[in-house]
Amino acid sequence: MKLFVYHTPELTPTDTVPECAIAVDVLRATTTMATVLASGGEAVQVFSDLDKLIQVSESWSREKRLKVGERGGAKVPGFDLGNSPLSCTPEIVQGKRLFMSTTNGTRALQCIQNSKVVITGALINRAAVVKYLVQHKPETVWIVGSGWEGSYSLEDTVCAGAIIHSLAQEIQMSLDKLAGNDEVISAVALYSQWQNDLLGLMHHASHGKRLLRLECHEDLKYCSQTDILDVLPMQQEIGVLKKS
Ligand code: MLT
Repeated sequence: MKLFVYHTPELTPTDTVPECAIAVDVLRATTTMATVLASGGEAVQVFSDLDKLIQVSESWSREKRLKVGERGGAKVPGFDLGNSPLSCTPEIVQGKRLFMSTTNGTRALQCIQNSKVVITGALINRAAVVKYLVQHKPETVWIVGSGWEGSYSLEDTVCAGAIIHSLAQEIQMSLDKLAGNDEVISAVALYSQWQNDLLGLMHHASHGKRLLRLECHEDLKYCSQTDILDVLPMQQEIGVLKKS
């Protein structure tokens, strides 16, 4: 197995695909996706375009759909939900399809959507991601961070590091053997330094600060927890993620 970390969709190669690609948007899209599916949501379907999202969602019955829209950290006016994972309780999402568009997370998913296997990772479901990699041993794995509008983000890189750190221990393989690019080593170094204070790291992250300005303190706390949900969102058809 060879692992590659790409910090943003823009840095991700476009001329080839891996056997397994993992989209990461810890704050907050992939945390929300894991939460939706763990709470009994039927699926999450992602869109970059809000008009397209509205059009497709309206072909579903009203009681089986929820529109989730976020721009700049805030809820899109007229949508049912913003991108807070804390809103995705079983009472709200059970049996429903969530039609979702976020600033960066959905773009990360779209840039890897043609990979053989597409899954999403966050700190809260890190163990489920690692379990999949240990069981299936894909030859090439890309971990693609969402970043923020083309820039690096601390929270996605620390999550990549958390996945790789745990995987290396589980399969007893050295980082040198696993690493396909230098970003792998730096992601693990970041995780090693912050593993006992992931919430503290979120407070240094530019999007963490943006969410704090929007009074999303509880979201940051929730998103910085590790291994609390045993759920693995996996793409079943282009743009549609279900529990694997
Ligand atoms: C994104 O896709 O940029 C994020 O998930 C933003 C957020 O809702 O925090």
